[in-house]
Amino acid sequence: MSHSQAAHAEPKYEAIDQAKLDALRHKHAWLVEPLYRASDLVTEMPFFRWVKRLRTPLEFKCVAEQLYFHSATFPKVMGIMLGFTSMRENPMMPFYSKHAFGESDHHMLLRTWMRRHGLIDSDAELDKVITSIETNACVNLAYQLAVEQDRDKWLVTINSGIERCSNDFFKIVAPKMHELGAGDEYFDVHVEADEHHSIMGLEHLSSIDPESHRAKVLLSKALEGVSLWAAMLHSWIGIGMMPVFNLDGTLAAERKRA
Ligand SMILES: [Fe+2]
Ligand SMILES: [Fe+2]
Repeated sequence: MSHSQAAHAEPKYEAIDQAKLDALRHKHAWLVEPLYRASDLVTEMPFFRWVKRLRTPLEFKCVAEQLYFHSATFPKVMGIMLGFTSMRENPMMPFYSKHAFGESDHHMLLRTWMRRHGLIDSDAELDKVITSIETNACVNLAYQLAVEQDRDKWLVTINSGIERCSNDFFKIVAPKMHELGAGDEYFDVHVEADEHHSIMGLEHLSSIDPESHRAKVLLSKALEGVSLWAAMLHSWIGIGMMPVFNLDGTLAAERKRA
């Protein structure tokens, strides 16, 4: 779908080997199955119905200006994760740094797209955007994890959780923008990049006993990432909601705000 447009360009991310993916998914099923269930539920929430109803790229402004902050901040947090890496964790450095590097110019692609389609008249406008509490909460979760330096917690929450949600977001938004005549590399690249980021995290994850307390801790954190991601998307279109998930990835409750 999205990559035919970029077929002439060098692929930035290695192709994903389906057999390897299946093996990783099987090995970490205790995490992947509930997490996929939860993230699939997010794609059925009102935000995505709103996306499907978009008629012009201009209507996407309320999302794009918050997304710009998110896109610009995530690579910074990944840089903190790299910078705080202990000597014992040195083998993880290429993983963190490649992720930070890969994400580092994405916000600029989005900014150029916003200029091209008249969402903003100048780059400086983006510096004046006041980000929502939910946007800050989602980003702050990553800051917390970078400081905590718990590798598995980082991987399950950022790579398996947030990157999967982000991949779902771009898989819906990228073709929608093409439909509106506003398709762009910023959206298309994420369909591939975030899938890569999401899956590759599993390669570095420890083997965890699914019955252990540690498994519950990790799964809770990963699901917290999905909740905060969903709350963030809805805050962008003026809907206050915080979906909360059970440890099996089903919806526990929705905390609505009047
Ligand atoms: Fe990105
Ligand atoms: Fe990503």
